[in-house]
Amino acid sequence: MTKIAVVEGDGIGHEVIPVARRILEILHPEYEYFPVDVGYGMWERTGCPCADREIDELKTADAILFGAITTPPMKDYQSVVLRIRKALDLYANFRPVKGEWFDIMIVRENTEGLYSGIEESTPERATTLRVVSRRGSERIARAAIRLVQQRRGHLTIGHKANVLKSDVLFRDICMSEAKSAGVTFNDKFIDALALDILQHPAAYDVVVTTNIFGDILSDMASYLVGGLGLVPSANIGDRYALFEPVHGSAPDIAGKNIANPIAAIRSAAMLLEYLGDRKGAALVEPAIGRVLAQGIRTRDLGGSAGTREFGDFVIRDICQQL
Ligand code: NAD
Ligand code: IPM
Ligand code: MN
Repeated sequence: MTKIAVVEGDGIGHEVIPVARRILEILHPEYEYFPVDVGYGMWERTGCPCADREIDELKTADAILFGAITTPPMKDYQSVVLRIRKALDLYANFRPVKGEWFDIMIVRENTEGLYSGIEESTPERATTLRVVSRRGSERIARAAIRLVQQRRGHLTIGHKANVLKSDVLFRDICMSEAKSAGVTFNDKFIDALALDILQHPAAYDVVVTTNIFGDILSDMASYLVGGLGLVPSANIGDRYALFEPVHGSAPDIAGKNIANPIAAIRSAAMLLEYLGDRKGAALVEPAIGRVLAQGIRTRDLGGSAGTREFGDFVIRDICQQL
């Protein structure tokens, strides 16, 4: 039986994930859904936001639907999200930013770079080691190139090789992988790339970059489609996969039923695609489009629909297609 771990997490995770989960349950009542509790709430109860037990539970799932985690106020803080990505070796982070006349897939390396976790801190000086390995770069480059081939598209490599030795290695490996695969590619410095994506989004297809650059680029690019409430993501490894909105737990709007559930719903569609249900996944986007076209929107898009109400409209539309 297909098992889906559902992690609401914190903040608006408790609001947007139930909507996404209901859509999965309607399309796949035969899947087994089980909750895994990690994050701030878990930290308040146990002093630990995510223990080995929860990691083991997540590993029993065929796919994970994930909300967002608030940074717990711990000394020697280790991000729960990063812990899970590393423990499950979810090395490829796909962040699609799609509008009417552009379709960009940001492919973010998800396990190393500035997120190596190799850090030292004294009151006088703190350092974080930016690690770029051949193995890490080759596997993310290949993941991005597979996508370019499927989309019959183009690869852009985002880096800062004019300053960082680690990005000379990253850029060179990506270029050499692209050459041997025979895909067309170009490369750009990440700062110039950030502006150019905003100015000429239609010029981009697949953009591959290192960990923190991909993090920043994806929040920035969400501006093109109406903000963070709209952009989903897939974190994929060779054995496990986790699907989550690009946004965080949004404490400023949590508990008010105003968060946009579209990013979470789209993440659920990416989960279905991963599990091989292309038909189910394909029902989701047109349903969102029809609801938006009726002028039904959450507050971030200038509307007044609540999270649950917007979700109900999408769910009703999907049910009509079944
Ligand atoms: P955030 O993404 O939570 O929020 C940034 C802004 O976007 C806020 O104004 C918020 O209201 C808005 N926003 C986000 N999602 C929205 C939605 N679905 N609908 C409408 N508006 C939305 O980022 P932040 O405020 O910098 O971080 C808050 C917490 O979330 C922090 O503890 C951070 O560490 C955590 N975080 C977690 C994840 C994750 O778990 N994957 C990702 C990013 C941030
Ligand atoms: C994201 C988030 C995470 C990241 C944080 C919460 C660790 O910003 O998923 O984009 O930096 O990757
Ligand atoms: Mn981020």
